[in-house]
Amino acid sequence: MTSILADNLTKKFGDLYAVDSLNLAVEKEIFGLLGPNGSGKTTTVLMLTTLLAQTTGTASICGHDTRREPDLVRECISYVPQEMAVDPNLTGRENLLIFARLYGIPNPKDKVDELLGIMELTDRAHDLAKTYSGGMRRRLELAEALVHEPEVIFLDEPTLGLDVGARQNIWQHIHALNKKGMTIFMTTHYMDEADKYCDRVGIISHGKVVALGSPAELKARLMNTVITVTLEGNYSPVQLDGLVFVGQSGNAYAFTAENGSEALPLLADALGRAGNRVKAMSLREPSLDDVFLQSVGKQEEPRGFEEMKFRMMLHRRH
Ligand SMILES: Nc1ncnc2c1ncn2[C@@H]1O[C@H](COP(=O)(O)OP(=O)(O)OP(=O)(O)O)[C@@H](O)[C@H]1O
Ligand SMILES: [Mg+2]
Repeated sequence: MTSILADNLTKKFGDLYAVDSLNLAVEKEIFGLLGPNGSGKTTTVLMLTTLLAQTTGTASICGHDTRREPDLVRECISYVPQEMAVDPNLTGRENLLIFARLYGIPNPKDKVDELLGIMELTDRAHDLAKTYSGGMRRRLELAEALVHEPEVIFLDEPTLGLDVGARQNIWQHIHALNKKGMTIFMTTHYMDEADKYCDRVGIISHGKVVALGSPAELKARLMNTVITVTLEGNYSPVQLDGLVFVGQSGNAYAFTAENGSEALPLLADALGRAGNRVKAMSLREPSLDDVFLQSVGKQEEPRGFEEMKFRMMLHRRH
């Protein structure tokens, strides 16, 4: 059965369409909802988790309608919000015990010990949650989310503010939960993580889904390769068929080409003939960042957007 279905799901705050006619079908997968600040990610999650009533449209989780059967929906889901969801003045173990009792779990203490073990928190179980690192706190929140063995877990920005190691660790846990058969619906701003760990992603902008598919599919739709050229001295412009100059930052210049490996030597030659002194050239395939920026850019193109897009192209490692 489809884990999450949204049919023209819409939320208006006054005149603002925070979520606008969202259609989604999520299976037992890791699904990432990506989008700029204020694009409607949290609003979507709140509606899907029954915490916010939609203006129009419908949503169902594991076959249960979020408005007509909210109790059944809540039984099969967990939600870890963007903000802190644990009581800082209780120990990790106490936090979990409250949850286990709330859900009426038989043998709550055994369940709590099991979850502390899974989330690598056994050693710190008796310390106050406020003494935990960001990564430990996130693992405690994940443990809470697992208390009643949900089928679908919603995670709003699960790796926000964590260091690289802690983020990787959280992803390993998320991956393991999915392998056990849980559907993961998460939001993130980290494109590289979404690319690596999500089976499919949806990109949302101004409440509308502007791209949907596996990271590989979305990247494949962007035919263009990005060529970055570092010059010594000024740039004398060159014109080549199929080559588009995208912008400049310092002495680095970016171009896109449909076939990068063919275009690279032609560009090198043309640059030389025009009197440019080339220090370095590099080629890379489009990334999910490019997909994101192109999809979101299509919708809004704010002032300075091209410049931002260009900086991101240059500053990413190949
Ligand atoms: N309770 C509310 N009342 C009025 N407007 C709201 C409310 N909640 C959200 N909004 C607006 O709806 C839009 C979507 O907000 P939302 O929090 O869903 O974005 P988001 O994608 O989660 O952003 P972020 O990446 O910053 O977490 C924003 O313009 C926001 O200001
Ligand atoms: Mg949000």
